[in-house]
Amino acid sequence: MNRLDGKVAVVTGGGTGIGFGTAQRFIEEGAFVYITGRRQEKLDKAAAKLGPKARGVQGSVTEQSDLDRLFGTVKAEHGRLDILVANAGFGELVPLGQITRAQYDAAFDVNVKGVLFTVQAGLPLMGPGGSIILTGSTTGVMGTPAFSVYSASKAAVRNLARSWAQDLRGTGIRVNVLSPGPTLTELASEAVGKEAMIEMGAGTPIGHFGDPSEIGAVAAFLASSDSSFMTGSEVFADGGLAQI
Ligand SMILES: NC(=O)c1ccc[n+]([C@@H]2O[C@H](COP(=O)([O-])OP(=O)(O)OC[C@H]3O[C@@H](n4cnc5c(N)ncnc54)[C@H](OP(=O)(O)O)[C@@H]3O)[C@@H](O)[C@H]2O)c1
Repeated sequence: MNRLDGKVAVVTGGGTGIGFGTAQRFIEEGAFVYITGRRQEKLDKAAAKLGPKARGVQGSVTEQSDLDRLFGTVKAEHGRLDILVANAGFGELVPLGQITRAQYDAAFDVNVKGVLFTVQAGLPLMGPGGSIILTGSTTGVMGTPAFSVYSASKAAVRNLARSWAQDLRGTGIRVNVLSPGPTLTELASEAVGKEAMIEMGAGTPIGHFGDPSEIGAVAAFLASSDSSFMTGSEVFADGGLAQI
């Protein structure tokens, strides 16, 4: 399928995990993809794997100057942006009673403030047919022990899409949330642990954890005109975890 032929995309956190799986699928479908992240070496490796239709731009979604430089690069090289995936995220397990202000700030700075200012910085480059995808999580609609801060940040992301669908009326730009379930990535292994992820995957109706490519496939649908009548929605790629 070449649903994204000639499209220009940005995927934050595209050097690893779900972001990398998404960038890979976008390129397979014809897009040019900018990937971002704080670690230059991860970006270099990812860009080398993705090939000539990928470009790494190092930076943090928590720094406005980094976001301005990222979208300045996109503007200088392509003049426009068709697809924006605000995917960079962070979470850690902390039970109620032990949550520190620093832990709260770390999660909300990346997952909510980072998403908001990424979208706001990229929006001037977007026009009719544009697609914004925010990475949510099954935890945003579930109660998960010791994961309240992360989960609340993802619930906030869900509302950003609902409200922005209203703000974007008449622009031809759509915004949707893509909420993965257990997917074995760096973040998941660090935050939840590999064994717990395997167990969680086994507990889904599908019976195993997800692969980043399975999330990327759904992202490509949301990025393409196949989802032209969808905005303000949340799509789950979760093995059924949050659907039962
Ligand atoms: N894996 C799951 O089971 C799962 C389930 C539901 C939702 N999600 C969501 O999926 C998204 C991707 O996570 P993942 O599971 O694929 O884990 P991952 O491989 O660790 O990806 C997270 C990416 O975000 C980047 N990142 C983190 N903080 C950043 C910042 N301040 N600025 C720019 N980039 C930053 C990281 O790169 P650097 O560290 O180099 O910056 C990394 O590439 C996240 O939003 C996560 O909450 C994951």
